[in-house]
Amino acid sequence: MHESTIIDPNQPKPALYAEIAAQVQALTAGEPDLIANLANTASLLYHSLPDLNWVGFYLLKSGELVVGPFQGKPACVRIALGKGVCGTAAARRATVIVENVHEFDGHIACDTASNSEIVVPIVRGTELLGVLDLDSPKFSRFNARDQAGLENVVAELLKAI
Ligand code: SME
Repeated sequence: MHESTIIDPNQPKPALYAEIAAQVQALTAGEPDLIANLANTASLLYHSLPDLNWVGFYLLKSGELVVGPFQGKPACVRIALGKGVCGTAAARRATVIVENVHEFDGHIACDTASNSEIVVPIVRGTELLGVLDLDSPKFSRFNARDQAGLENVVAELLKAI
C-alpha cells in the first residue's frame, strides 16, 4: 500500500505545490491506469489544498467533457466545449481562473457552495484529453501561484497517463 506523507496545507503555495507534485509522481509512477491515477490525484489535491469544496476531472469523450474521478458533491455529468468554466478552458486550451463564479457568463453551478474556480486543461501535444477543475467556497481563492502549481501537477500526470 502506498503511504502518503502528511502535507501541511498552510505552508506557502510554492512549497505546498512542490510537495503535491512529488506525491503525484510517487502515486502514479509505474501505474498506467488512467482512472486510478486521476482518482488518487483528485483525492490528494482535495485533502492537501485548503478551502476547496470540489476537485476533479472532466474527460473529453466524443467531443464533450464527461465527469471523471472527483472529490466533492455529485456534479453535472456532461459539459459541451465552450460552455461553463470547464468548457471554456477546454476550448481555449488555457487555464481559466474565475474570482467570482456568479459573475462568469455561462458558469455551470454544480455545488451552490462554489464561489471561485480554476480549470486547467490537460493537453498532450495537440490532443485535448480533458480538464482539471477546482472549486472553492472562498471568493478569489485561486491566483497565478495556484495556476503554476496545478499546471505542474497536470504535467506530472501526463507523464504517467
Ligand atoms: N462550474 C463548472 C462545472 C463543473 S463543477 O464546478 C464541478 C463550469 O462552469 O464549467
